[in-house]
Amino acid sequence: MSTAANGKPVPGGKNVLVEFEDGIAWVSLNRPEKRNSMNPALAYEMLEVLEALEIDDRAGVLVLTGTGESFSAGMDLKEYFRATDGLPTLERLRIYRTNAMWQWRLLAPYPKPTIAMVNGWCFGGAFTPLISCDLAIAAEEAVFGLSEINWGIIPAGIVTKAVAQVMNQRDCLYYIMTGETFDGKRAKEMGLVNDAVPKDQLRERVRKLARTLLEKNPVVLSAAKQAYKQVRDMTWENAADYLASKMDQTSFLDKDNGRAQGMKQFLDDKSFKPGLGAYKKN
Ligand code: COA
Repeated sequence: MSTAANGKPVPGGKNVLVEFEDGIAWVSLNRPEKRNSMNPALAYEMLEVLEALEIDDRAGVLVLTGTGESFSAGMDLKEYFRATDGLPTLERLRIYRTNAMWQWRLLAPYPKPTIAMVNGWCFGGAFTPLISCDLAIAAEEAVFGLSEINWGIIPAGIVTKAVAQVMNQRDCLYYIMTGETFDGKRAKEMGLVNDAVPKDQLRERVRKLARTLLEKNPVVLSAAKQAYKQVRDMTWENAADYLASKMDQTSFLDKDNGRAQGMKQFLDDKSFKPGLGAYKKN
């Protein structure tokens, strides 16, 4: 934890850097000398950062990226695997659990919108936080790879399940089995990321997207993403019932009553068109 100019504490500060900018929290994995590979210390720090940002008003949208030339080179082979091989089972499982805690248990259903900004190398275990983020924008020049096969393991943790969520079977099996790398453009073609832009436009593209999200009603935005992630594995009947309940819950939690404001501004004031942008928040 470090302190910002205004005296408010900023989470992270070592293996994870956090910068606030007009409602955007830029969260960077910060081990550039190890290509931002993820060691246990980074996992513990990421967990603290995510928990802190969840209730920090300076963070309306969270952008996950990496310092330097890498998004992340995946799990730290030395510190996460070799160094833990000899540990007592419970200790090893605890370290593995911490990784799962931040990479998907906390990040996938995170109550605030999340964007992965893939700025460079993205390998193996890094696919999990990438896919846990709601949206993803990559540099065209970024290099991705499910490299596990190249060094003698399967894409475990939860990587295989994560890629199966966003890519089709042929593409998943192709890259799981060959370990070949691909670039940002190919990642976009396969649906692994939403968009790929030249690297020098990456931050601005992400900033624009974050600003679009910041215009929306945050209670409804949170419910909308959570609803999507829940209903995709439900039956139609279960989904219809869940969505009706979620809709009521959202109206209850939304103290700004966005639904009424939106209708008033469209139907009465005629001051906006919901098809073309967000209603004006109070
Ligand atoms: N785990 C541990 N250390 C890693 C690492 C990883 N996943 N990825 C990179 N590093 C370390 C290297 O060991 C090296 O450390 P050193 O300076 O102490 O020797 C340092 O980071 C720089 O790596 P280097 O390979 O020299 O950088 P590069 O720019 O030439 O190549 C990569 C970058 C990402 C292509 C290459 O490092 C690589 O293949 N990394 C492993 C990727 C992978 O398979 N990840 C899956 C893990 S689940």
